[in-house]
Amino acid sequence: MEELLFDKGEIATMTVNRPKALNALNPAVVQEMAKVLRDVRHDRSIRVLIVTGAGDRAFIAGADIAAMAQMSVVDGMEFCRLGHRVAATFEDLPIPVIAAVNGFALGGGTEVALACDLIVASEKARFGQPEINLGLIPGFGGTQRLPHRIGQARARELIMTGDMIDAKTAYEWGLANKVVAPEQLMAEARALAEKLASKSGFALRQAKAALRASFTMTESEGLLYEQSAFGLTFGSADKAEGTQAFVEKRAPKWLHR
Ligand code: HXC
Repeated sequence: MEELLFDKGEIATMTVNRPKALNALNPAVVQEMAKVLRDVRHDRSIRVLIVTGAGDRAFIAGADIAAMAQMSVVDGMEFCRLGHRVAATFEDLPIPVIAAVNGFALGGGTEVALACDLIVASEKARFGQPEINLGLIPGFGGTQRLPHRIGQARARELIMTGDMIDAKTAYEWGLANKVVAPEQLMAEARALAEKLASKSGFALRQAKAALRASFTMTESEGLLYEQSAFGLTFGSADKAEGTQAFVEKRAPKWLHR
């Protein structure tokens, strides 16, 4: 059975499919993710990507510990680099990415979710960075993205104690955008994806890139970036349509998909 499933469509779904290992990420699966993301990047028919895990227990229970047990220093660094590349690719995709977190999202699992734009969590979801309990530290970007998302105090607590938090806490801490009943998870994620797919793709792309600049640039550089991106939207057919539709009191018909 394939360890990474990809369901193509206007709303595409990527599913880590190793339920017996709670969807732990070995290097082969992460390589496969990188490959699929390359295709997604160039496929203009895909409007939104949903990422989830197979089965009802786990989103991704982290990097594969049995595989890491066999890794040398160089292997470890390479694995980390690969994870960084995949996380950065999620962030650089021109379309929104939603993590549908159906269960354990630990270590690399929380880190994959952090690289997505929005997180919809099942009431059964658990988040955490338990690497400390393995004599490790987060290696798919958690030391950088977690404090950015939930603040230093909470990020330090999670990374230094290795404790897990439940879905409700993840919502209260600003990690998850929504918490829903387990049986509603995929329907809610799709409803959110459909809402995003109904917006101007061009404006969404500019918004995503500018939001990313808040992570990679200083505030003044980021504001300059925003000026350029904002200005760019004024050259788009969607800006003409969106503003005109408002004036004419009708729904806009977006051209840039
Ligand atoms: C490999 C894993 C795994 C993992 C679970 N399994 N997590 N295998 N890597 N990360 C396997 C178990 O070995 C077991 O296989 C099966 O999945 C079911 O797990 P159990 O432990 O039996 O289930 P349960 O008792 O319910 O406990 C669930 C759990 C626990 C709390 C999620 O599995 C757990 O603590 N997992 C490890 C979580 C973790 O530390 N993640 C961070 C990894 S480090 P068998 O064959 O026995 O049935 C990381 C670094 C990222 O992510 C950066 C890398 C560069």
